[in-house]
Amino acid sequence: MNISTSDDAARWRGRGVIARYRAYLPVAETTPVISLGEGGTPLIHSPRLSAAIGRACGVFVKYEGLNPTGSFKDRGMTVAVSKAVERGAKMLICASTGNTSASAAAYAARAGIGCAVVLPAGKIASGKMVQAVAYGARIVTIEGNFDQALEIVRALGQRDDFAIVNSINPDRIGGQKTAAFEIVEELGEAPDFHLLPVGNAGNITAYWAGYEDFCNAGKAKRRPKMIGFQAAGAAPIFRGEIVVRPETVATAIRIGKPASWSQAKRAIADSGGMIDIVSDEEILEAQRWLARGEGIFVEPASAAPIAGLLRAAGAEKVTAHFSAASIPDGSRIVCTVTGHGLKDPEALASAIAAARPVPPNETAVLRALDTARS
Ligand code: F0G
Repeated sequence: MNISTSDDAARWRGRGVIARYRAYLPVAETTPVISLGEGGTPLIHSPRLSAAIGRACGVFVKYEGLNPTGSFKDRGMTVAVSKAVERGAKMLICASTGNTSASAAAYAARAGIGCAVVLPAGKIASGKMVQAVAYGARIVTIEGNFDQALEIVRALGQRDDFAIVNSINPDRIGGQKTAAFEIVEELGEAPDFHLLPVGNAGNITAYWAGYEDFCNAGKAKRRPKMIGFQAAGAAPIFRGEIVVRPETVATAIRIGKPASWSQAKRAIADSGGMIDIVSDEEILEAQRWLARGEGIFVEPASAAPIAGLLRAAGAEKVTAHFSAASIPDGSRIVCTVTGHGLKDPEALASAIAAARPVPPNETAVLRALDTARS
């Protein structure tokens, strides 16, 4: 696979997305830049995923878990928080399934302002909760889901005291576009397919806007087909109706009423792509597969596009789902894996609990290793 890690990319690493892509972002010379060196994440060629699809296709994983707070949210947050500070904000607010709150809390700390996060009780992966605590956010959990939390935040945002940093804030989408820029620059052209998980639908909206920007600027000649994956129990866009009680092991995308629903539909339609679903079992299987097969550990939501791709690999006929039949020979496929696996230890809790201590001698350890082979 021809992939050029250009000197240019290396030059910008660690300097943040505003420094690198200022011309494409809603910032002025006078905007204070609040950055933690986000972006510049690796685009990893994945030989086993490529082999699974076959027919000379190249699969690349954009590992967004390597951003400063472990998710893609940091790209949007640097822009949203810089703009909020420029406008004089003293307190950020967001609803979240965990990653937005971790990112908002970190960038607020960096800016020296406050951050309030409204979260669905009991449905935030522990690593993300730990982050909000560590960065000093004011945390309120509600007896309700993300959609209800976002409604409350929208209402509170009407008051002067709070600046909303959910993806309903267009500055967030602006920043998140930069991942598409990096992919085009690294591959030398847009991929044929771009697969990613969909929750509140801000990220698929942002990627599409990024690919469009680069086409308009003459930096890309084509745009990819956008393929979004929702969890089967939280699939409002796929099903075409609000899901009142969304449920999935992938808590990051446990969303029944996406804020950027119509924008996501437009991205999918304009690109000739599709929205699809994967089951919780497929998600967890893909999470293990990616960790063991490629050495890339992601949280469950991030494994959704991998699950969709692995299923496609086994489906040679055109089906209602994304299938190999719709992937031409030699295609380049990028999967965005959105968050780090360490954020959600609960997803692997049963495997960890199964490990029982043995007596401290070689025989016992060898016997245990034998039974632990899986
Ligand atoms: N993957 C991860 C790890 C996420 O945290 C999210 C969204 C998504 C995918 C979906 O992205 O919402 O732009 O379609 N997390 C939000 C949050 C909702 O509050 O952290 P989306």
